[in-house]
Amino acid sequence: MITKPKGTNDIKGNDALLWEYVNNVVNSMMSAYNYEFIRTPIFEASELFHRSVGESSDIVKKETYDFKDKGDRNITLRPEGTAGVVRSYIENKEYALPDAKKYYYNETMYRYERPQKGRLREFTQFGVEVLGSGDELVDAEVISLQYNILNALHISNLQVNINSLGDNESRNNYKEALVKYLTPKIGELCEDCQERLKTNPLRILDCKVDKDSEILKNAPKTIDYLNKESKERFEKVLQYLDYLDIDYQVDSNIVRGLDYYDHTVFEIVSLDNEETKSNVLGGGGRYNKLIKELDGPESYGIGFACGIDRIVEVLKTIDLYKNIQKEIEVYVMFVSEEEKLHALDIVQNLRLNGVMTETNNMNKGLKGEFKEADRLNAKLLVILNNEDLKKGLVTIKDNATKEEEKVDLDEIVEEVIGRL
Ligand code: HAM
Repeated sequence: MITKPKGTNDIKGNDALLWEYVNNVVNSMMSAYNYEFIRTPIFEASELFHRSVGESSDIVKKETYDFKDKGDRNITLRPEGTAGVVRSYIENKEYALPDAKKYYYNETMYRYERPQKGRLREFTQFGVEVLGSGDELVDAEVISLQYNILNALHISNLQVNINSLGDNESRNNYKEALVKYLTPKIGELCEDCQERLKTNPLRILDCKVDKDSEILKNAPKTIDYLNKESKERFEKVLQYLDYLDIDYQVDSNIVRGLDYYDHTVFEIVSLDNEETKSNVLGGGGRYNKLIKELDGPESYGIGFACGIDRIVEVLKTIDLYKNIQKEIEVYVMFVSEEEKLHALDIVQNLRLNGVMTETNNMNKGLKGEFKEADRLNAKLLVILNNEDLKKGLVTIKDNATKEEEKVDLDEIVEEVIGRL
């Protein structure tokens, strides 16, 4: 038997219902905030991720799915969505437009991770990227949009952990101070951190192995190294978040695992229990320098992404969703061939009028049809029989109260809609 690859999931059954629910909330919120849908390729030139996510990031060093295509090109399955959107923005010269571009996506990502709860090799993110505006209002909009989507999904006790890495100057000053502080102590940290001191010292701060060590707790804080401009900018973002009533906590250990960030960086968690507290549902930040690094002009960018797989796991723990079931509106019943012809027509008409309809598609007898209608939680039954059809009539039965009534065949759609 062939089984699914390690770290992947088939999304079906009740998980699929929750998944659809998440997508509906995401789509309507994105539309209210005026974000444009974008779909970029599932694979890109490997170089794109090396230059954006960064050579020294864990993702590029250990986790990408790389292959050579038949034309001997180096190709990578996307491990995240930002790089592709920024590539498309530059390729289409959208930086020349007078307005900021506000994109959202909802797509699968691929990282060769060690599979565990909440950590998959194929997972799905919804996310946004706003390109072309450096206004602090946009930082606040992006953070609040992420917060409000999770809130609309009834995930309680949300907290945004936020930090600022500042501009290039602030970041470099901080990096210098951090290296100076860590160099004499590095032997006490894990092997990966010893390597990171040379390649990407900031990443040491969010090392999963050493995160609780005193050395990291007492490390210099990014906030203390922000120059005046970066500090004022960060304070403005926080002020806007206060106005929007977003629950946030400044956390100087948030540096994020991708190399492209500057200024605002953030992650969002639910504080409800230990599991949801350590399970980061989404994160993001500003990446102003990335557009130039990918051969565009000086510009601005900020975005976030949330993992739907992780969100669905959290929803499953919420009472509201525990009894979620598939429900259809109408089940159309028939037995004979002649009844079947009428059923075909009625079913199509109901469906084209937006009524969720199922019918006897396995040649069942009446008893089997009643059982199937119950399994599908059908609200109404439409029952066809030859004698009634000759008189131009059909029966509509309420599957909860069991009340039934014969109605005009020609008015079946109106009669059904009137009862739903
Ligand atoms: P990220 O923090 O790498 O950021 O991923 C964002 C979210 O995707 C995580 O918080 C988590 O919910 C989900 N996620 C990440 N890896 C996995 C995995 N292996 N299995 C399941 N879920 C996962 C980014 O990807 C950035 N592109 C976000 C961003 C957009 N920054 C700016 N714009």
